[in-house]
Amino acid sequence: MSKKPFYITTPIYYPSGNPHIGHCYTTVACDSIARYKRMQGYDVMFLTGTDEHGLKIEQKAAEKGITPKAYVDEIVETFKKLWKYMNIDYDRYIRTTDDYHVESVQKIFKELYDRGYIYKGEYSGKYCTPCESFWTDSQLDENGCCPECHRPVAFAKEEAYFMKMSPFADRIEKLLLETDYLRPKTRATELVNNFIKPGLEDLCVSRTTFKWGIPVSFDDKHVVYVWIDALSNYITALGYLNGAYTDFDKFWPADVHMVAKDIMRFHAIIWPAMLMALDIPLPKHLAVHGWITFNGEKMSKSLGNVVDPFVLGERYGCDAIRYHILREMALGADSSFSNEIMINRINSDLANGFGNLVSRTVAMADKYFGGTLPSERETDAVDEDFKSVILGLLPAVDAEMEETKIKQALEEIFKAVDRANKYIDETEPWKLGKDETKKARLAAVLYNLLDSIRVISALLSPFMPTVMPKVWEQIGASAEDVEYGKLGTFGVLPENVTVHKGEILFPRIDVEKEIEELNSLIQKNMDEAKSNLSSEEKGETAEPIELAPEISIDDFAKVELRVAKVTECEKVKKSSKLLCLQLDDGMGGRQVVSGIAKYYKPEDLIGRKIQFVANLKPCKLCGVDSNGMICAADTADGPKVIFVDDSIPVGTKIR
Ligand code: ME8
Ligand code: MG
Repeated sequence: MSKKPFYITTPIYYPSGNPHIGHCYTTVACDSIARYKRMQGYDVMFLTGTDEHGLKIEQKAAEKGITPKAYVDEIVETFKKLWKYMNIDYDRYIRTTDDYHVESVQKIFKELYDRGYIYKGEYSGKYCTPCESFWTDSQLDENGCCPECHRPVAFAKEEAYFMKMSPFADRIEKLLLETDYLRPKTRATELVNNFIKPGLEDLCVSRTTFKWGIPVSFDDKHVVYVWIDALSNYITALGYLNGAYTDFDKFWPADVHMVAKDIMRFHAIIWPAMLMALDIPLPKHLAVHGWITFNGEKMSKSLGNVVDPFVLGERYGCDAIRYHILREMALGADSSFSNEIMINRINSDLANGFGNLVSRTVAMADKYFGGTLPSERETDAVDEDFKSVILGLLPAVDAEMEETKIKQALEEIFKAVDRANKYIDETEPWKLGKDETKKARLAAVLYNLLDSIRVISALLSPFMPTVMPKVWEQIGASAEDVEYGKLGTFGVLPENVTVHKGEILFPRIDVEKEIEELNSLIQKNMDEAKSNLSSEEKGETAEPIELAPEISIDDFAKVELRVAKVTECEKVKKSSKLLCLQLDDGMGGRQVVSGIAKYYKPEDLIGRKIQFVANLKPCKLCGVDSNGMICAADTADGPKVIFVDDSIPVGTKIR
C-alpha cells in the first residue's frame, strides 16, 4: 500500500534581517509535526523558504549599495544555517526569486486576469511626490498635507491592477465560521466582523513605484503585489504551472499552513480567495499561533530585542531550545520569552524530570546487573497501573497532534515521565538492590522502567530529534524497538536487554549565574542591533529637538491622563487610518477613535492597557464619536501606542 501524503508549510520569511527565535517557533513546530507524521508512516512534504521581493528589500539593498539578489542571498544562507543548527528536516526550500516560481506567478496572475477576476483600474488620490505615496483625504494631516513629510500633495492617478474579492465573501465567511479550517476557530468571528461584514474591498495587486518584484507578464511596468507572489509559493513549490516539480496532485490540498497571527488575515481571506478564483481546492487547516514576545513586545530586528537562537543553542543545545519554545506556546495565545522561565523549564523537565529518569534507570541496571538484565522476573500489583499509563500515552499524544496541539502533546508525555519517576519512588529499587532475594523483583522494575523510557523517548523524538537517539543507545533499544507501530505495546525491549551508560543528556544549569551572563549578552546584542540601525530607524531625527514654550504645573494638571483597557476595537468603515476603540476606563466605559489603523490591527490592542487623555472635548472623526485620545509616541516609523503595565488598575490617574 502506498503511503498517505501529508503536506505542511511554514510562512516564507522575509530575508530582511537575520532570523530570530520567533521564526524558530513556527519552523520548529512544523518540523516536529512533519517528523511525527513521518514516524506515523505518512509520505511527508514539509516546505519552508523565503519571500524575497518587495520595496523593503529593494531599499535595504540600496542602502548597502548591493543588488537586491546579492542582499537576500546572504541572509538566506543564515536562515539555512540556522535550520541546520536547529535540526530542521525540511523536504523543500522555496525562494521566490527561483525561476520556476517567477514563471508560475506570472501564469497565475494571467490566469486570474483571463478569468475576469483581475482587472486594470486606477488608483487615485492625493499624491506626495517626495514620498511616492498616495493618501486618502482622511489620512492627510490637519493642514491637508502629506501625513509623513507634511509637504503639499497633489491629486494624481496611477493605473493599477485589482483583484475582485466580493465574489468570494460568502464562501470565505462559511469557510471561517462553519468549517474547521481555522485553528483556533475562536479567531473566526473577529476576522468576519473586521473584514467581511464591512464589505470585502477589491485588492490592489500590482505596483509601479518600484522594480524588485515579478513583472506582470503582459504589462511589465507593473510588478505583482508581494502577497500574491508570496502566497502562491505553497502551490508553485509543488510544480503548479511549472515544470520544476511534479507533485501538486499528490500533495495538494495542504494539510496544514502554520503562521503567526500577524499574517492570519492574508491566509484566512486573500489566499482562499485566490484559490477559489483559480478553482483549486482549499487547504485543510490554517494553524495560527501567537507571538513570542520579549519584554511585552513582539520580537523583531528593529526593536533590537532579538534573542539570538545561535547563542541559546550553543549554551543549552538545540533540543532544549526546541522543547522550551514548543512547550511554552499554546496555539492562539502569545508567549512571553524569558531566560528565567527557559532555564527553569530546562532544569525541571529535562534535567530533573526526563534526564534523571534515564540516568537513574541506566545507572541501576549497570550497578546491580553489570548492564544486562537477567531473565528472572517477579511482578507486583503496582506494575499494572504504571503499565496502563504508558499504554495510554500513544493514543493521547496522537489525539493532540491530530489537532496541531503540540504543547498539550508534550504535557501528556511529561505526565508519563512524572509517573515513571513516581514508579521509582514506589518500588524503591535501591533497596531491592541490597537484598539478594529481591533480584527478580528488581529486574522486573528496571525492565518496566526501560520499556517506558523506550515509549516516552520515541514519542519525544519528533520534538527533540538530536538527543533521543542517544537515549536509545543508553537503554539498548534498536531502531525497530522505537518504531511507531510498537509504541502502543509494552514489553518490546529484549528480555536480557543491555544498557550503556552514557553522557548526561541535559546538564543542570546554574540559574543565577546563567541569567546574569545571558542578560549581559542580550544587552550587548541590543546595543549592537541599535548601532546597526540607521538614525531614522532608531527614531532619531537629524534636526535638534525643539521644545514647546514652558508651562506651569497647573497647566499640566489641566490634562487628565488615565489608564484604560481596550475591550473592543475595529476599523472605522470608510477610513484606512482610523480605529474605533471601546475602553474600560473605570468610569463605565467610553469610545475613542484613533488614527493608528495603519500601524496596529485590532487584535494588537484588544486586552491591552493604554494611557489616554480623559478630559479632551469630544469630537467626531469620519462621522464616528470620539471621547478622548490614546497616547502614542511619534516615532519615525509612525505612532507607537504607550502600553501600560497590566498591574495598574483601569481609571488610575497618571501624573
Ligand atoms: O510575514 N513570534 O514574513 P516574516 C512568533 N513574508 N512567530 C513569529 C515572530 C514572533 N515574535 N516573528 C516572526 C512574512 N514569526 C511574509 C510571509 S507567507 C506566504 C509570507 C514568524 O519574515 C511567524 O510564523 O515577517 C510569522 O507569521 C512569520 O514569522 C512572519 O515572518
Ligand atoms: Mg512580519
